[in-house]
Amino acid sequence: MINEGMENIIFTSAVAEELQRLLKDVARKNVFVLTDTNTFKYCLPLLEGVGIEKDNVFVIPQGEASKSLQTAEQIWLFLLERVARRDSLLINLGGGVVSDLGGFTASTFKRGIKYVNVPTTLLSQVDASVGGKTGINLGGLKNNIGTFSIPQKVIIDTVFLKTLPECQLLSGFAEMLKHALLSGEDSLNKILNTEPTDIKALASILPESVAVKYRIVEADPFEAGIRKALNLGHTFGHALESASMETNTPLLHGEAVAYGLFFALSLSVKKKGFSEELFHKIHYYIYEHYCKMDINGVDTIHSLLEDTEHLYRLMLQDKKNDGDGVKFVLLTKPGEYSVDNQCSKEEIEQAVLEWRKMYHEG
Ligand SMILES: NC(=O)c1ccc[n+]([C@@H]2O[C@H](COP(=O)([O-])OP(=O)(O)OC[C@H]3O[C@@H](n4cnc5c(N)ncnc54)[C@H](O)[C@@H]3O)[C@@H](O)[C@H]2O)c1
Ligand SMILES: [Zn+2]
Repeated sequence: MINEGMENIIFTSAVAEELQRLLKDVARKNVFVLTDTNTFKYCLPLLEGVGIEKDNVFVIPQGEASKSLQTAEQIWLFLLERVARRDSLLINLGGGVVSDLGGFTASTFKRGIKYVNVPTTLLSQVDASVGGKTGINLGGLKNNIGTFSIPQKVIIDTVFLKTLPECQLLSGFAEMLKHALLSGEDSLNKILNTEPTDIKALASILPESVAVKYRIVEADPFEAGIRKALNLGHTFGHALESASMETNTPLLHGEAVAYGLFFALSLSVKKKGFSEELFHKIHYYIYEHYCKMDINGVDTIHSLLEDTEHLYRLMLQDKKNDGDGVKFVLLTKPGEYSVDNQCSKEEIEQAVLEWRKMYHEG
């Protein structure tokens, strides 16, 4: 617990005990657990002692494809068969796919049952499990159906991160870099001095990072204005993520966001007077940690940037743009941001040229 408003979010190094405490008055037949194939294998064993009934665990295939109406229906039917009631509780044990889908099914089953998020990826610990957005994909569009719904508790334990692949750690870390940029110079320095794979170091900076998201969501829970700040790095990031899906080397969400942050900062230098020196420092960090080569030794991001026209079209299609150009979240300095900054195609192309220039300079 790091401040009064965040009492729903618990940071612990003893997740099983924390859950036991939370469930002390709840009959175990009323406690259900949603996992995916990986978290069933790697994370459920860490809840030994909580007394979860084996038959009350529902396992979905890992991956984004499970965020579907079909899977949601299977979970509703499972809850019906197991005679779940209004006072039943669902534990979402997994990454953002499990918390988005589980939160959605719980918040709609019998007009809403309680649920607890136990996030097991860095991305879900720092982002997806917090903030009250739930959802599934429909008609090829992400999170098209969903609810705003607050979990009863979010229990965060970095012990789960030990089995997480390194690329997934990096993906979540990009959202932490985003939070630090939205927070201020002190947070940013801490992040730039942390290795994304150092789980002990992550545990010490995680509460502060979650608090940044929490504060912004608290100020604007239904995304009427300032919550859009959390979209920092995502305008360009989403376009890169989508474009990479068409290649043999798809980017993870956070990897695309890391590159997206570069472009948001590059535009911030040009349009908002963001410090060029700091921009170079962050660029170096992103380049060093996120640039990966494909089997031909070609940098994934470099090949994606070759078709700027395609990326620009994808940015225009993003649901957060309303038709008259591409809007970016930009910074004057760490902690000082503004949303809905219109950027022209030329300005975006200029930022791409800048990446190329830096890339060739090494
Ligand atoms: N609701 C929100 O506010 C919000 C915010 C950000 C992202 N999201 C959503 O979150 C999803 C992405 O989340 P994610 O990156 O956590 O993806 P994910 O849930 O697919 O997890 C990534 C991979 O890691 C595996 N995994 C999870 N925990 C593990 C562990 N401890 N050890 C080993 N493997 C483990 C999963 O099985 C999966 O293969 C997207 O669907 C996105 O839309 C939602
Ligand atoms: Zn994101």
